[in-house]
Formats: sequence, C-alpha cells, structure tokens
Amino acid sequence: MSQSVVKINVLTVPPEMRETLEARFAGRAGMVEQADGFEWFELLRPVEGIDTYLVYTRWRSEEDFEKWQSSQAFGAGHGQSGSAGGPPTGHGGNASASGPATTGAELWSFQVVEQAAPASG
Ligand code: HEM
Repeated sequence: MSQSVVKINVLTVPPEMRETLEARFAGRAGMVEQADGFEWFELLRPVEGIDTYLVYTRWRSEEDFEKWQSSQAFGAGHGQSGSAGGPPTGHGGNASASGPATTGAELWSFQVVEQAAPASG
C-alpha cells in the first residue's frame, strides 16, 4: 500500500526569467536522485492560462522529504554551500548567478490516494 507524498514547489517566474530558470534546473545539482525515499521529480513548464512553474517531487514518506529538505544536498541543489539545516535562500540560484529567477515560491503537499501506470504486456 503506497503512502507516498507529493511535494510541489510552485514557482512564480517572470516571463523574461523563464529561460534562466530552466537553465538553472538543467544545471541542477542532481543530488535529489540520491536522497533516501526519493521517488520522482519533474520540472513542469506552464503552457497556457498559468504562469507558475511546478517542481513536482514524490517521496516514500513525509519523513523522507523532511530529511532531504534539511540536508546538505538540498542546500547544494539550491545554490548554498552552507551546512545542513538552513532554509532555502529563496532564490535557488548559485552564487555566481545574477539574482533570483523566481519572485515567489510556495510549497504544496499531497498524499497519494490513487495511482495508475500503463499495463505492461
Ligand atoms: C524558496 C523556495 C525555493 C525556490 C525559489 C527554489 C528554486 C529552485 C531552483 C531555481 C532550482 C535549480 C537549481 C539552482 O538554481 O540551484 C531548484 C532545484 C530544485 N528544487 Fe527548488 N526551490 C525552492 C525550494 C524547494 C522545495 C521546497 C522543493 C521541494 C519540492 C524543491 C525542489 C527542488 C528540486 C528537486 C530541485 C533539483 C535539485 C537537485 O537536482 O538535486 N525546491 N529549486
């Protein structure tokens, strides 16, 4: 029985910063893949009628997500060189980047109630 949780970080991105944001994600730390309990990640680009990017992540449990969020890997993936436990700076960019690509971020949390995948064979 799945008890997975979905954590979606909702990023407000001005149109002129879209390219910068996507480039930053293209160069992301890639450390989330190593996190215990990590199940899925997607960066979702808005198409029409919506102006927010979604960073979709899925975790085995709430505890696994929280551990990752207070880990050094999270800091590294968010442009911080500092120690574990610090909150995100709110910009996500690395030190050499020219400021934040986002003007806002909001975390949405969900429990996975039902799921389906293509039947194989
Ligand atoms: C103030 C809040 C946040 C902002 C503005 C933000 C923005 C960003 C940006 C711009 C990147 C690209 C990498 C970089 O520029 O260093 C990134 C990486 C990432 N973010 Fe966030 N983020 C925030 C918090 C969160 C939270 C709460 C989650 C959980 C859903 C999350 C999930 C991820 C993941 C999975 C990556 C890829 C990390 C990796 O490759 O290891 N972010 N974020």
